[in-house]
Amino acid sequence: MTIENDPHIMAMLHAHTKGLEKGDPISAPIVSTAKYFLPGAPDTPYVYGRDINPTVEITEAALGALEQARTVAFPTGMAAITAALMSTVKSGDRIVVPSDGYFVTRALLEETPIGLALHVETLATTQFETADLSQYDVVWLETPSNPGLDLCDIGAVAAKLKGTETLLVVDNTTLTPLLQRPLDLGADLVVASDTKAMSGHSDVLFGHIATRDIVLFDKARRWRKLCGSVAGPWEAFLVHRGMMTLELRMARMCSNARALTGLFGRHTAIEAMTYPDIGFVIGLTFSSQDKAEAFINDCSAIFPATSFGGIHTSAERRARWGDNVSEAYVRLSVGCEPEAELLHSIGATLNDF
Ligand SMILES: Cc1ncc(COP(=O)(O)O)c(C=O)c1O
Repeated sequence: MTIENDPHIMAMLHAHTKGLEKGDPISAPIVSTAKYFLPGAPDTPYVYGRDINPTVEITEAALGALEQARTVAFPTGMAAITAALMSTVKSGDRIVVPSDGYFVTRALLEETPIGLALHVETLATTQFETADLSQYDVVWLETPSNPGLDLCDIGAVAAKLKGTETLLVVDNTTLTPLLQRPLDLGADLVVASDTKAMSGHSDVLFGHIATRDIVLFDKARRWRKLCGSVAGPWEAFLVHRGMMTLELRMARMCSNARALTGLFGRHTAIEAMTYPDIGFVIGLTFSSQDKAEAFINDCSAIFPATSFGGIHTSAERRARWGDNVSEAYVRLSVGCEPEAELLHSIGATLNDF
């Protein structure tokens, strides 16, 4: 599937506008309210701000059109991950998570009561396809893995688990449904941080769960209501606005990334490059930590920051957080800048090495 022919983009773009009536504003209205007018019997879904919010619903509908699934929004990607776990697992369950995936997911399992109730094991992303997964209640994938960008075949793992009770969850933050559709490949639940490419402007935190299973959906919504992990209307508005240009941004970010891989592949300053042939994140290994820092800090086109998926090209050394990668490894998130200028600026920095 290429970004250009994704049939769900139109559905996402028009999820809100198709329901409009004459005179309605085209943008999502920000409904900032804790209460609703509620005399008598509470025979409306709109009873309280922790249950439901119209702006959040608009964003969920757009996410749902893209995912072709029911979606539940959360204030951050980690809140969505927590909800996916808390609403599905029971005490004593066995869960396997990537040893090389986003470290906060592992920390959540290692350091909080969720993990205490579970038997948590880890596997490298590349091992999930061949490992025996039959003993697990939950299999958690993240592909490409963050930060190492290793891959595993979601469809192959789903095929192995078919007919079992095992829940297959995929963190699809890095690629978004535009580049990878875990639910089509057999996953039960998708979790994502919309803080990244989905909202795209590095100005908001947000997350969602997507599923085609009504029971899982109801559990996630119920859990959100009980624990109060609700997304706000202002944030939902920003995510909805950002999503409207998701396809354009992703197309530019990915084409910029492909062009940069050509440059990096020829450059002697770079010892190794990891690019999964899809997406906008590139892994670069330099000859030393100092060279890696110089690349990040000396290039005017690169914004030194954690996170990824924004308009601006940004980079960081993931070893600074303790990730199991070389001290000289840089995760580069390629942005939407004009290609020629981006290549020129990054090429000039490398030539100075
Ligand atoms: C793969 C992945 N999943 C989840 C998250 C958590 O998202 P958030 O920062 O929105 O809580 C991140 C954040 O970097 C991530 O990279």
